[in-house]
Amino acid sequence: MAGETAEVWWLATDSLGAGDWPELEALLDEAERARAARFHFERDRLSYVAAHALGRRLLSARAGGEPSAWAFTVGPHGKPEVRDAPRLRLNLSHTRGLAAAVLAEEHDVGIDVEWLGRPAAGPELAPRFFAPTECDILALAPPERAEETFLAFWTLKEAYIKAIGLGLAQPLDSFAFTLEPLSISFAPGIADNPARWHFARFRPTPAHLMALALRHPAPHTVTTAVTEADMALLCAQPGRMSRR
Ligand SMILES: CC(C)(COP(=O)(O)OP(=O)(O)OC[C@H]1O[C@@H](n2cnc3c(N)ncnc32)[C@H](O)[C@@H]1OP(=O)(O)O)[C@@H](O)C(=O)NCCC(=O)NCCS
Repeated sequence: MAGETAEVWWLATDSLGAGDWPELEALLDEAERARAARFHFERDRLSYVAAHALGRRLLSARAGGEPSAWAFTVGPHGKPEVRDAPRLRLNLSHTRGLAAAVLAEEHDVGIDVEWLGRPAAGPELAPRFFAPTECDILALAPPERAEETFLAFWTLKEAYIKAIGLGLAQPLDSFAFTLEPLSISFAPGIADNPARWHFARFRPTPAHLMALALRHPAPHTVTTAVTEADMALLCAQPGRMSRR
């Protein structure tokens, strides 16, 4: 079976200048621009704009067409899917200072990014959200690494619930990760198979963690291509390939 490459683009929003934002907003559709305008905090607006620009530009790089022309349907738990090219599977994530998008073909995919500078609350929150085995691993982390370890689990758990599209409708303690080696297990009664998942963890900047989840019949054949996007990439003219 042919392997699959999950393509990830990420962008540190602090790297952009004031003049770049109108160009990125021009890649969005009207509804996204209206939503962007409603954010209370500028930093949230910028990471939203960056994530949606990344996703649209990534789709156009793969399949051609104008970035702003892509349309999406929304699943029962809020997961957007590409309307006119359902083979293409896109997922977005944004946090303070960073946005990311992943594109795969056919297979469920999810991505999550988190900012390491957020107020440290992880170890206290873990018993509410995590599986007991994850809490045990977290309890063994040295204090100075506890928050980062918590966010390593958090990004993986979010990437998984985003890949399956259920979001928080999936109980967060119904599945458990180990970090080394990176693996998932499911509580009894959960109809999923660890042998059908590819997971990956990244540190795109010193201040951010990123995790990826991809469901695949042969996960060992999956590769991930990670690209730090810049304005040249984001605003390049899309190719002339027609949409699939
Ligand atoms: C979908 C969800 C999991 C993601 O929330 P999040 O981490 O706050 O946000 P992210 O930036 O990573 O992802 C948001 C994007 O995911 C996509 N998305 C929305 N619902 C989704 C779903 N059910 N499945 C997959 N993707 C979804 C959208 O593109 C969304 O972008 P938009 O808000 O700009 O339109 C959400 O259900 C949520 O509210 N999470 C709360 C966080 C939490 O308590 N996590 C505990 C983890 S241990």
